[in-house]
Amino acid sequence: MTSRHFPHWTHPSIHAIPYVKMSKVKDGLVLRICRGHQCGKHADAIEAKARETIAAEGLEDEVHIDEEACFGKCFLGPNILVERWRNGARNEKAVFAMMMNQKHADARFEHQVRAEDMPKLIRWHLRAYRAAQEEES
Ligand code: FES
Repeated sequence: MTSRHFPHWTHPSIHAIPYVKMSKVKDGLVLRICRGHQCGKHADAIEAKARETIAAEGLEDEVHIDEEACFGKCFLGPNILVERWRNGARNEKAVFAMMMNQKHADARFEHQVRAEDMPKLIRWHLRAYRAAQEEES
């Protein structure tokens, strides 16, 4: 069986973890919206509301949107992975911990997301991110 038969989040090989390169992102949050066969039914509405919130609150420098094919957690969807980025990279240890079902503030899943949840979800994560940044500096 080739790796394309597994959602990469559930693939047994660490090499399946995608290398994320988003050249525009330096610091801030990346909302990775699932567009897999289950979550994808709601992804357009979720992304539209997220973009509307980002534009309305002037968060373009701090909150970024990307997508994912499937996290392998379809039964919990619609799913979004919220990553904290610093110095142009996400915390790969946090992503790996999350894949192992361990909690880590730098990579958190949001499950059963509805479009109308996006403003609250973005504000909550951004507040937590900013507080963590202040603590670290
Ligand atoms: S379709 Fe979203 S986790 Fe599989």
